[in-house]
Amino acid sequence: MDDRIQVWVGDITTLKVDAIVNAANRELAGGGGVDGAIHRAAGVQQLQAACRRIGGCATGQAVMTPAFNLGARAIIHTVGPVWQGGDQDEANLLRSCYSEAMTLAVREGFRTIAFPAISCGVYGYPKAQAVAVAVDEVERCLESYLMFKRVVFACFDQSMADLYRACLQNQAT
Ligand code: APR
Repeated sequence: MDDRIQVWVGDITTLKVDAIVNAANRELAGGGGVDGAIHRAAGVQQLQAACRRIGGCATGQAVMTPAFNLGARAIIHTVGPVWQGGDQDEANLLRSCYSEAMTLAVREGFRTIAFPAISCGVYGYPKAQAVAVAVDEVERCLESYLMFKRVVFACFDQSMADLYRACLQNQAT
C-alpha cells in the first residue's frame, strides 16, 4: 500500500487539505449527501454562483471552484456514474472521476486531496466494487504523481472505512 493514502472517518468538509472532492451531479446544482454538506459548509450562495458560472460537468469529468468558507484551498467537483447494473461503463466512468480529479489537482500544484466515496450514496454503486476502483485508480495515479503527499479517503461511517482498509490490505499482500 502506498503510505501516502489515508482512510479517515468523519465529515469531509472539516479537512484541511488542498482540495476536497465533491460527488456532484452533471448540472452542478447541489443536492443532498456530501454535495449538500459541502455546499452548506462552503457557503451555499457563493458556491452555487461559482457552479453556475461553470455550467455543468460530464460524468467522469472534474471541474474546480474556490472553497470559500472551507479550510481547503479548492473544491474539485466530479460526477460519478449512476449505477445501472454494471454494463453501462460505470467502472471506467468512476475510475475517470478519480484520475481527472487527481490530474486537475496536480495541475494546480496541490499536494493533498480528500475524496468521498463517489457514487456510493444516492447513485447506488455497490460499495465494495466502488472502493476497489477508487483504491486501484488512486494508487495508479500516485505512481506517476510523486509530488503528491497525501490522499485521504474520507468515509462518513466506519463500515465504509473498513471496506477501504480491507481493499488496501489486499493490495499490499
Ligand atoms: N463527508 C464524507 N462523506 C459523506 C458526507 C460527508 N459530509 N456526507 C455523505 N457522505 C458519504 C455518503 O455516506 C456516501 O458514502 O458520501 C458518499 C457519497 O454519497 P452521495 O453524497 O449520495 O454521492 P453520490 O452517490 O455520488 O450521488 C451524487 O447525490 O447529493 C447528490 O448532488 C448529488 O446528485 C448528486 C448525487
